[in-house]
Amino acid sequence: MPHPYQIRTFEEYKTAYQKSITDPDGFWAEVAGHFLWRRKWDKVLEWNFTEPRVEWFRGGKLNITENCLDRHIAHKADQPAILWEPNSPDEHNRTLSYKKLLEKVCQFAHVLKNNGVKKGDRVCIYMGMIPELAIAVLACARIGAIHSVVFGGFSAQSIADRLADAQAAFIVTCDGAYRGAKDIPLKSVIDDALIGNSTVKCVIVCTRTRTPVSMLKGRDLWWEEEMKRVEEQGLHFIEAEEMDAEDPLFILYTSGSTGKPKGVVHTCGGYMIWANYTFINVFQYQPGQIHFCTADIGWITGHTYILYGPLSAGATSLMFEGIPTWPDAGRFWDIIDKYKVNIFYTAPTAIRSLMGFGTAPLQGKSLSSLQVLGTVGEPINEEAWHWYDEHVGKKKCPIIDTWWQTETGGCLISNFAGVTPAVPGWATLPMPGLQMVLVDENGKEVVAEGDETVSGNLCIKAPWPAILRTTYGDHERCRTNYFATYSGMYFTGDGALRDKNGFYRITGRVDDVLNVSGHRIGTAEVENAINMHAGVIESAVVGYPHEIKGQGIYAYVIYSGNPTHEEELVRKDILQTVSRIIGAIAKPDKIQFVTGLPKTRSGKIMRRILRKIAEGETANLGDTSTLLDPGVVEEIKNGKV
Ligand code: WT7
Repeated sequence: MPHPYQIRTFEEYKTAYQKSITDPDGFWAEVAGHFLWRRKWDKVLEWNFTEPRVEWFRGGKLNITENCLDRHIAHKADQPAILWEPNSPDEHNRTLSYKKLLEKVCQFAHVLKNNGVKKGDRVCIYMGMIPELAIAVLACARIGAIHSVVFGGFSAQSIADRLADAQAAFIVTCDGAYRGAKDIPLKSVIDDALIGNSTVKCVIVCTRTRTPVSMLKGRDLWWEEEMKRVEEQGLHFIEAEEMDAEDPLFILYTSGSTGKPKGVVHTCGGYMIWANYTFINVFQYQPGQIHFCTADIGWITGHTYILYGPLSAGATSLMFEGIPTWPDAGRFWDIIDKYKVNIFYTAPTAIRSLMGFGTAPLQGKSLSSLQVLGTVGEPINEEAWHWYDEHVGKKKCPIIDTWWQTETGGCLISNFAGVTPAVPGWATLPMPGLQMVLVDENGKEVVAEGDETVSGNLCIKAPWPAILRTTYGDHERCRTNYFATYSGMYFTGDGALRDKNGFYRITGRVDDVLNVSGHRIGTAEVENAINMHAGVIESAVVGYPHEIKGQGIYAYVIYSGNPTHEEELVRKDILQTVSRIIGAIAKPDKIQFVTGLPKTRSGKIMRRILRKIAEGETANLGDTSTLLDPGVVEEIKNGKV
């Protein structure tokens, strides 16, 4: 029997797209009708982008875990829901069937309840990529607690900021996490984050590395002991909390061009439908396939395409604890062969880094199970695309280039694997329901004349089910960030081209946000961290093209600290400070000490000039006559690192 809403031909795509625009309510009601609802919605969509206010499936009641777990039990209780591959290939892998996963989720949901977690409470989850992370996330969703997963690479300070912003009273963490040859002391980072914190009541610690940890009486509890307690209490199944379609499901922090990271809020109904709909259509998931998304659950990609998308579709999702290059650069290929992976989804930065090892790590690997390849997170250069196609897909797997954002919940522009055309470097066509527009700086829509390819800032005219609803605790910030630049539209922050076929090619961020190895980092955030370093007077951070990371971080720093410190040492000290304040992922790749920054008479830093110099393009810097002190540009040019 064909899947009820899986689009199987280009023609079907066009028809579906048309219908989704002319009758969005009817279109999404039809899709939503295939899910498990406790109560049907009263209204499909209600919205305005001025406040902004977006409500999908108002009045509908559901629990996403019933859709991800319970509804599969009748037919696929013993099918693996999660396959887990440990960091070390020498350790045993684990399999959680749908039945087992539901059991564990219920058990941990009882643990949360035993410890006072209630519907609407925020639970911060800071764990490595082990099955217990998936269990913790789903257990929160089960009881209606709002999960806020924080990537294991963030510093104590970053966690503290997120805890405070979300007013989280509960944390689930691990003693430590394995990543390649490293072992990361997660609990100890949490302990640092909790110095001076008065809102966190309870920290549940799951053992993984069994590195020594401090356990504070009355606050810290062992995962294993709490799980055992539930068993002893004779507690098993837990009824899923009935959630309103518009109740928050999770918060995920992401960087913007100003200030601290913002807590993007996704809700239960719309997000579920989008995660599922895009998983089924973009990846062209077929029952029985093994899906391997290499992202960390600490990012939106992991939320949507390791957990909620695949599980809501009853798929088997492979979760990998380690990194692509350890113990060697053939790790992904070994995993693909070991589990006979059918769908493989990774980031261009990972492909480029593996390309650097040549084809030797691919020798002796079959990869014959692969059927679909995907990329996400940044524009993919053609060289990487062709390498992926030739050496991984053996030219027989369609490649999907999926463009989306933390704020969009799931894919918005992508080809459908093997169904709609693929063009290297192009994300191609919008999902059904998506009304994309390109606008110029004044917000005027860019319209092509004839067959020309046009470029502009990428905006969206109307909501899709998984659009962010707010930024936690600060709705005004959501409005100004996304809905105020161009009135009546959601602004993505990306620039794009559109060709005569209506295909989109994303050219990258047009705001002060960097994309480093597929991770989003705000330049202002890095500057703030650098400026906290003793002796630093001012700094300016820009991106520059980086062969593997896509973008590297280039920092110009005015430093007047102790002159007896060597420059090289000061650089290292600054990197330490940035690691402390944000995390190692935000460490600048290059630091240039300068005596001044190019500023306009009104004091604004001319980033355009700094960007050009960082890119090595010093010949044509454009107009510098408006600068307060044009001489500073010469100095910066000459001192380029
Ligand atoms: C930014 C969003 C989507 C999950 C991972 C990143 C860039 C994402 C693509 C792509 C070109 C892409 C955009 C976007 N981006 N996918 N296929 N082609 N650029 O999520 O951290 O929220 O970052 O990543 O610039 O705005 P994120």
